[in-house]
Amino acid sequence: MKAEIKIVPNLQTLSHKAAKMFVEIGGEAIEKNNKFTVALAGGSTPKSLYRLLTSDGFASKIDWGKVFFFFGDERNVSPDDEQSNFRMARENLLKPLQISKDKIFRWQTELVDAKKIAADYEQTIKEFFNLENHISNSTSGSNSLPRFDLILLGMGNDGHTASLFPFTKALKETEKIAVANMVEKLNAERLTLTFPTINYAANVVFLIGGAEKAETLHKVLVGKREPERFPAQNVILNNGNLFWLVEEKAAQFLTK
Ligand code: 6PG
Repeated sequence: MKAEIKIVPNLQTLSHKAAKMFVEIGGEAIEKNNKFTVALAGGSTPKSLYRLLTSDGFASKIDWGKVFFFFGDERNVSPDDEQSNFRMARENLLKPLQISKDKIFRWQTELVDAKKIAADYEQTIKEFFNLENHISNSTSGSNSLPRFDLILLGMGNDGHTASLFPFTKALKETEKIAVANMVEKLNAERLTLTFPTINYAANVVFLIGGAEKAETLHKVLVGKREPERFPAQNVILNNGNLFWLVEEKAAQFLTK
């Protein structure tokens, strides 16, 4: 299992590299298990990746009928809200590829109460992955955690990933798959997969672009361990492959 940093010239090459990895990982998963489970990232960086996957160069490279889409995190808004991560994926990936509803598992924000939404999403994931409804006493957690083939992640300027923000309660979650997470600085309850879930994935790919990420990325990857202050430091796959796809501008302090 490995952790690898790939530095690419710009956002276009970052998206192209990510699309190739998406298709490779997906193709292997489909060949092995006849399905590909992926948790999509929100924010703006992944938008160009999603669009690229719908282009002629990539759309025909994977059997979309065997791809099952989940979301690494979500804002507690309507699925039609401009802030919705689901909406961004629907407009840039799911609708253009005509992905059928039965292959899309979004956070049901219609339930309004964040804890209810998180519990509902956790149950959906447990049912999809045939997980028992109890916390595993095995160290690996293998029968209580889903093993996504791929989880796409971004990183905020503050070192957050998914909706696991600095000094928030969800950072400490060790059992649940999905939780609500109050983010004081946003004055909002976010919805997010937890680190146990992220760290149990077969593959995690960070997509990081922009000079404004450079200083934080240096602290996350090279600085001292401060996992509460820089939550992205908590992503450590013991039984999976971790890739950091980084645009040069965001990597400028890594190579000095
Ligand atoms: C969200 C995202 C979040 C995002 C980072 C980076 O809901 O906002 O899941 O974790 O990945 O904030 O966002 P950008 O890639 O747009 O910089």
